[in-house]
Amino acid sequence: MNITLRVWRQKNADEKGKMVTYGLEDVSADMSFLEMLDVLNEQLTLSGDQPIAFDHDCREGICGSCGVVINGVAHGPEVATACQLHMRSFEDGAVIDVEPWRAGAFPVIKDLVVDRTAFDRIIQAGGYISAPTGSAPEANNLPVRKEDADHAFESAACIGCGACVAACPNGSAMLFTAAKITHLGLLPQGQPERESRVIGMIEQHDHEGFGGCTNIGECTAACPKGIPLDTISRLNRDLLGALASGKA
Ligand code: SF4
Ligand code: FES
Repeated sequence: MNITLRVWRQKNADEKGKMVTYGLEDVSADMSFLEMLDVLNEQLTLSGDQPIAFDHDCREGICGSCGVVINGVAHGPEVATACQLHMRSFEDGAVIDVEPWRAGAFPVIKDLVVDRTAFDRIIQAGGYISAPTGSAPEANNLPVRKEDADHAFESAACIGCGACVAACPNGSAMLFTAAKITHLGLLPQGQPERESRVIGMIEQHDHEGFGGCTNIGECTAACPKGIPLDTISRLNRDLLGALASGKA
């Protein structure tokens, strides 16, 4: 395949960025999108140019490090992370725009890399349990309804990539926050901090500058892990309950 890439280049957080066009020939349809960027970076390096900075780690859809907007869509045209997207999803001769996540709470650090530490601070504000750890407990000591276990697992699949924020016109991180609150709130171990958790995490979410949810649903459409929109309804129920109880 021969493709044309238009990539967001930005030296650092303080300088203005711009789209820069690169042509790439003989791209294998079986390459992942990130492997294609590796090939381009090798060519840039050999010609003495700065390689394109982009985040990645596992390259198998589990760590949540990668994330770019491809042709206006977070993670690109497939329901998968950018690292699991393959070049066969594009036509020969395609012109592909590659941009960083666009959100006020995710400032650009360099090129396609954004600062997602706001997510870490939301987790620090309540995304944990205080139950003592230690050796693995006997599996049936704490009975959990199958339905609850399944929903908790579904929410635990969130990898913290931030595509939901990038896709949301409000720049809201409600789907991410709701996934963490649901994951812990459905399990017995998550009950002691259930009310303080939702209050703390929502306060931090708003403090970081993420927008509010207006039920548009772009987040769930862009989510590579299929976190459903009703996870946010569950967060709202927990939040109203915590506020009404006055204990949080
Ligand atoms: S909810 Fe989905 S899109 Fe948002 S951070 Fe988690 S995995 Fe990524
Ligand atoms: S590099 Fe880990 S999810 Fe893409």
